[in-house]
Amino acid sequence: MIETSTNPRFGINSYLEWVEREGLRVAHGLSLDLFEVETADWPRLGAKASAAHFDGSGDYCNMIVIDIPAGGSTLPQQHLYEEAYYILEGRGSTELEFADGSKRSFEWGPRSFFGIPLNAKYRHFNASGTQRALMVETTTLPMIMNIFHNEEFIFNTPSAFQDRIGADKYYVGEGDLYRGRPGNDVWETNFVPDLGSLELVAWEDRGKGSSNIKILLADGIMHVHISEIAPATYKKGHRHDAGTHVLTLTGGGYSLLWDEGSTDFTRVEWKHGVVFPPCEGQFHQHFVTSNHASRYVATGLGNLRYPLTSKKRRQSFATADRKQATSRSIKDGGNQIEYEDQDPRIHQIWLEEMRKHGITPQLTL
Ligand SMILES: [Fe+2]
Repeated sequence: MIETSTNPRFGINSYLEWVEREGLRVAHGLSLDLFEVETADWPRLGAKASAAHFDGSGDYCNMIVIDIPAGGSTLPQQHLYEEAYYILEGRGSTELEFADGSKRSFEWGPRSFFGIPLNAKYRHFNASGTQRALMVETTTLPMIMNIFHNEEFIFNTPSAFQDRIGADKYYVGEGDLYRGRPGNDVWETNFVPDLGSLELVAWEDRGKGSSNIKILLADGIMHVHISEIAPATYKKGHRHDAGTHVLTLTGGGYSLLWDEGSTDFTRVEWKHGVVFPPCEGQFHQHFVTSNHASRYVATGLGNLRYPLTSKKRRQSFATADRKQATSRSIKDGGNQIEYEDQDPRIHQIWLEEMRKHGITPQLTL
């Protein structure tokens, strides 16, 4: 005889269930100002924290904002998901301990960026006795938790992963630069002292005066790139998969986001610490309205070394005569809107903003 259950467990999101069990606070939005996200005690970490979930987070990555009080430190951590950290405010250090007993440590300050090698033991220390340290990490925890849905395995596996440690110089702000075709230059390291001053490489496919570099952390699978837009210009509109967590670093301006066929723009103002991952296939465009270059860091899943998906592999390794789909015009089956094809209102909105700010436009169509 076949027995039927009236209460089957289907449609499970193991990551969200874990967040609830942990008592981890959650902030949600299309965009969030990370300086304004409210944090609460997270016993696992021994500090205050909040998960940051976005309409465009995608399936693989999340962000977690961490607030370490003055004179405080986090409890030692170890786990099978990857992390890319960015320091929003404060100064301190991170100590790493590997399975072979060796240790590394580095000191961070505002706009520092670093990775934690997979399954390394680590601990963060706030160096100030009077100021908090505010950091945000992008992690692969949603993907890892949904694959294994086993907390014990993810947080308590002794495997060493010695191959992820990397060169000593990766922990002191040095690295290896791999020059690829335009847009595919990679800086391999585990620690960048200041993302605001990291040297970038020109990549004008996406707009006049743009520059870019990709960062490869701890031989991991996370995507990181830094982009800079020239003063008083703007980039071309484009679209891609969800899950690219765009975090404003420097400069002033705004972004417009809109769904295909929609005539309404959603506008996000640029300010240090604002994050807005565009939704799946949502067009978006970044505009600078100051005389300073504007820079952002984008974090997500899948990089040049480990693309993970055939789609990312195709986009990353398109031949030189066949531009990658992300920078090919939508008229040619790609995902980029050339200046001459964009909605005329887009340029007018920008000109009006420039006039309001008293800035001379450096981009004419
Ligand atoms: Fe984008």
